[in-house]
Amino acid sequence: MTASQSSKTTAVTIRKSDRPVTISRHLYGHFSEHLGRCIYEGIWVGKDSLIPNTEGYRDDVLEALKQVQVPVLRWPGGCFADEYHWMDGIGPYEKRARMVNSHWGGVEENNHFGTHEFLRFCELIGAEPYISGNVGSGTVQEMQQWVEYMTLDGESPMANLRKQNGQEKPWKLTYFGVGNENWGCGGNMRPEYYADEYRRYGTYVRNYSDNRIYKIACGPNVDDYRWTEVLMREAAGHMQGLSLHYYTVPTGIWDNKGDATGFGTEEWYETLRRTLYMDELITKHTAIMDKYDPQKRVGLIIDEWGTWYNVEPGTNPGFLYQQNSLRDALVAGINLNLFHKHADRVHMANIAQMINVLQALILTEGEKMILTPTYHVFNMYKVHQDAELLPLEFESPSYAYGAARIPQLSASASRDKQGRVHLSLCNLHHEEELRLAVDISGLNVSIGTGTILNDPKLDAHNDFSNPEAILPVKLEGIVMEEGILRVTLPAASVAVIELV
Ligand code: AHR
Repeated sequence: MTASQSSKTTAVTIRKSDRPVTISRHLYGHFSEHLGRCIYEGIWVGKDSLIPNTEGYRDDVLEALKQVQVPVLRWPGGCFADEYHWMDGIGPYEKRARMVNSHWGGVEENNHFGTHEFLRFCELIGAEPYISGNVGSGTVQEMQQWVEYMTLDGESPMANLRKQNGQEKPWKLTYFGVGNENWGCGGNMRPEYYADEYRRYGTYVRNYSDNRIYKIACGPNVDDYRWTEVLMREAAGHMQGLSLHYYTVPTGIWDNKGDATGFGTEEWYETLRRTLYMDELITKHTAIMDKYDPQKRVGLIIDEWGTWYNVEPGTNPGFLYQQNSLRDALVAGINLNLFHKHADRVHMANIAQMINVLQALILTEGEKMILTPTYHVFNMYKVHQDAELLPLEFESPSYAYGAARIPQLSASASRDKQGRVHLSLCNLHHEEELRLAVDISGLNVSIGTGTILNDPKLDAHNDFSNPEAILPVKLEGIVMEEGILRVTLPAASVAVIELV
């Protein structure tokens, strides 16, 4: 190797952890809202649909979701949750209330996908349910009865109603959100007021029979540190989790967020720079939580994250339908690496959203379905689920754009229960490759294989006429010699390497 080559090589060391931290599989959670075509068309087509389905759920979507291993799924919103009255969505379909989905496009909501349909869907894909209750426009009684309906084993008015509707045994429900964005669409509350409401509503979210609920309080919007401070001060002892919402908006301007495809290098850079802001947000919210909860008992639950672009031209603006490109793959890879890094405080994260909305893993059009670059990243990274975090040491080269600078490398490593080590790597630079020398001595591994997602086009994406335009392929050129793994990542790429 020449001197100039070696000076351009970034050294990375994988350390053994001195303090074991597990990367909870729940960091790979999803979010599904009654919004646009996420639930209806995306998940649920009904038993009479010509689209192949099992009990009304699309077969192609079921298959894809089983493959990607969804650990936990949040539902029914979002803003929709604080207008949702669960009793509208149980019993015979013809008797279910029809309502207007006033948040999302003003379309009719026929309530055909309700509690039973959601919980059955979770069973079919092997996910744990995470239900968001209605604080903004619902009553304490309504919330109490919903939990009783789902989880009480034995005789009670709600348990009997559930049985009458065909579900004899209660479901197991762990995760329950007491409201959503109550600083905004969930009631425009002040943190002091919400903290009291949280305590009151939460009191009646009971542990029936042997079910144990993990209660999640509505947390801050982005950098609203005062919200975190007040909630932790007033209610930490009553919660198991506190949420955080942060979306990546390329321009930072909500009226013109930037397009999902057809963007230039500046928007690429800005998108990744704004994604990295997640690190600062988690760090600062964690510092506040540490003051009140040094043992890190309360989880930071990032139950909405992802890109938010202008909707696709010609689509309903209330449906939040956007394409998903190689840039979204980088956003996913960076965020997941960050969640790993903070896994001692971040107990769950839920990408917004699962299908046809915002940074979706899956897009559908009639009977057609495509998997997005974000799906492929989740599929490549799933090897980290429930693995032990291995600390990394490296000094990333800078990725400069104009006067701004961000690190060019985002990386994370873990060891799974079988002893396999996985290294996930993102090269953020839009045009420069990244040469790495990874010190793996001491890990007791000798073979390295990898997968990479990459394309010369920054907005490479799959669509219904070309569903496999961008797919993960084998990562070539891995060399292992004397405890060092050498590999070169092309510009704009996400890779996962397995070491055994
Ligand atoms: O995910 C779309 C919306 O974004 C959710 O309904 C809301 O919670 C957030 O503002």
